[in-house]
Amino acid sequence: ARLAILLSGRGSNMMALVEATKTGVLKGLAEVAVVFSNKPDAFGLETAAALGCPVAALPSQGRKREVFDAEAAQLLQQYQPDFVVLAGYMRILSPAFIQPFAGRILNIHPADTHQHQGLHAYEWAFDNKLTETKITVHLVDEGLDTGPILAQQTVDLRGADTLAEVERRGLAVEHELYAWALVELIKSKQPVMSSAAETSRVLK
Ligand code: GRF
Repeated sequence: ARLAILLSGRGSNMMALVEATKTGVLKGLAEVAVVFSNKPDAFGLETAAALGCPVAALPSQGRKREVFDAEAAQLLQQYQPDFVVLAGYMRILSPAFIQPFAGRILNIHPADTHQHQGLHAYEWAFDNKLTETKITVHLVDEGLDTGPILAQQTVDLRGADTLAEVERRGLAVEHELYAWALVELIKSKQPVMSSAAETSRVLK
């Protein structure tokens, strides 16, 4: 499967996914078609280029959402992605972006999307002294963190007494869970060799 990975900043999830396609659980299942950013100076873009990924950027600043989203979708379509993988892509997507890739856009959210939506989910967990939080991989629809959940994993936060420690534990889980969620999704879409077809061939 071809992945378009979208980011706006650091890119640690992108890095984990690229590594998974090269030497990890996504090897032989997925390749990175492009790493795209709405921020041409995003740190993650540099990392992606250094890792040998095709990269593309289109500045969103000062652009009308629908216009930018339509252009971004058009640009991405040239790379023929099977999945659009949001990895710290700090934008709410309009229908102009979602429609061309409907049902094929994924996001990772550092909380249970039923409990917390939007930014600052690790701060939320830390401030509320949660003993655990849930990393969530979900399909993207037109709401903010409202799409169907594909995978969740619990992070034990007991004894995590700084925000940095909460983030460290959470990110470690993010980096594993995103790749596994993609493995499951890709496998579920692969055509299964039909045993009925096999049988009829034998009977003929
Ligand atoms: C991650 O915590 C992710 O869950 C959230 O944004 C952050 C991006 O981090 N959506 P990075 O750019 O992948 O390092």
